[in-house]
Amino acid sequence: MQIRVVIGQPWEAVADLLVVPVLGEPTFTGTLDELDRRSGGELRALAALGELRAKAYATVLAASGDLPAGRLLVVGGGSAEGFDRETARRQAATSIRRLAGRSVHTLAYWLDPVADALGEGAAVAADMVVRGIVEGGFDPKTIYLDNTDAAPPALDELLLVTADAAAAAGAAAAIAAAAERGRIIGEGSNIARRLANRAANDVSPQVLADEATALAATYGLAIDVIDEKRAAALGMGMFLAVGRGSDNPPRMIVMRSGPEGARDSQGRLLAMVGKGVCFDSGGISIKPADRMEEMKLDKTGACTVIAAIVTAARLAPGIPLLAIAPAVENMPGDHATRPGDIVKALNGLHVDITNTDAEGRLILGDAMTYAEQIGATHLVDVATLTGAVGRALGHMVTGAFATPDPWWTEVAAAADRAGERLWRLPLVQDYRSEMDSWTGDMTNSGTVEGSLVKSGLFLESFRTVPWAHLDIAATSYYRKAFPFAPRGANGASLATLVELALTGAG
Ligand code: BES
Ligand code: ZN
Ligand code: MN
Repeated sequence: MQIRVVIGQPWEAVADLLVVPVLGEPTFTGTLDELDRRSGGELRALAALGELRAKAYATVLAASGDLPAGRLLVVGGGSAEGFDRETARRQAATSIRRLAGRSVHTLAYWLDPVADALGEGAAVAADMVVRGIVEGGFDPKTIYLDNTDAAPPALDELLLVTADAAAAAGAAAAIAAAAERGRIIGEGSNIARRLANRAANDVSPQVLADEATALAATYGLAIDVIDEKRAAALGMGMFLAVGRGSDNPPRMIVMRSGPEGARDSQGRLLAMVGKGVCFDSGGISIKPADRMEEMKLDKTGACTVIAAIVTAARLAPGIPLLAIAPAVENMPGDHATRPGDIVKALNGLHVDITNTDAEGRLILGDAMTYAEQIGATHLVDVATLTGAVGRALGHMVTGAFATPDPWWTEVAAAADRAGERLWRLPLVQDYRSEMDSWTGDMTNSGTVEGSLVKSGLFLESFRTVPWAHLDIAATSYYRKAFPFAPRGANGASLATLVELALTGAG
């Protein structure tokens, strides 16, 4: 897909279709009024019929009269006050999804209403719109099936149309650069989604490692895949405990951008750690059958950090960065860990595994310790860690823990830039005693009250440097399709990780 910034009015766009983003109740004044007149008055007519209510992600396809654009697609962005980067991205994703099954080669997107509503300039608008178009083009049906007739159209050309005076005065190059950035981040989230959606009989820990190896080769990253023998020699007792029940052995995937020993422009080495449970049956503490099939998505954190390091390295070649993905299958086999088993973590703590279904924190804890051992100065982990986060916050905001406060401030700022929603949860130290073990240092799952906080406290025991944890259990995949996204993995937190990593660029 070619992306071009076109300085001009929307009615001048030469394309198969022109996307007209609207905010709030569209008022026919200024450019929108002129666009309506020049396209034959169809938009006003539709508005009079109550079709143009500009509800978020509502769409109306309209004829375009004699305009050089073949048709118009009006896409709502909801109220102007609530409009933010995330809405801009979703509005764009909705537009391309609305065109599924149609043949559209050249799409023009009128950027100015988005830029005006965001109030952050045309470059930010271009970043979000292009990312939305790329992400909106993702269709999970294309992973296994050849018949893609119902998929969103693969565009040859995307025209970003703006009459912005600054753009005319030479900012077009900045808009084009921002658009390219949006494309690369969108592609990154699609890499993560494609991997995460794949089935557990297809993606074992070894296959995940193979996929990471192939990506590392393509994008010039170093990779080290630690097998079960090396993990044992290193002392990764928690990580190995989770993988024991499966015939498919665990793999600790370690990817590096930049030379060994290097620090970024902030003097840091950030490690992004992602939970890679290729299937979570619960192990001996087995899960109920209802929706257990979703647990093939329990590797989403791993897929996200793998895609994030690739994306950050594409945007800032050679940037010092680590991605660590502990990959396992949590199964109830003969050799599986039993409830009550005591294992020694890589950092020396003895953990009493009272619930084999609280496995994510076990593999993440060892991965975090390992990240510090190989030089990480800052940690961020992403994981489909708890059912509780979904009960607390639902599927549109990710729950986060972080310490110390200045690191949280940076993570929150990165999420804002990325157009993603995070909500910080408290690390209430008083609850630690409810995770005490009578034979070990701590259990991996305490009493049910405050279990979400306890998941954070457990992970906190395995860090000594600034750390943030994003629980994407409820936000990283949708259980049904939305106008802006299909069912399945949605790429949540990838852009936040990339933004956070890029603070250390240049
Ligand atoms: N992978 C699950 C969390 C999960 C649940 C992700 C639903 C996506 C949707 C995790 O390993 C798990 O089983 N967590 C337990 C923790 C409990 C045993 C302390 C949970 O949330 O019930
Ligand atoms: Zn899990
Ligand atoms: Mn589990």
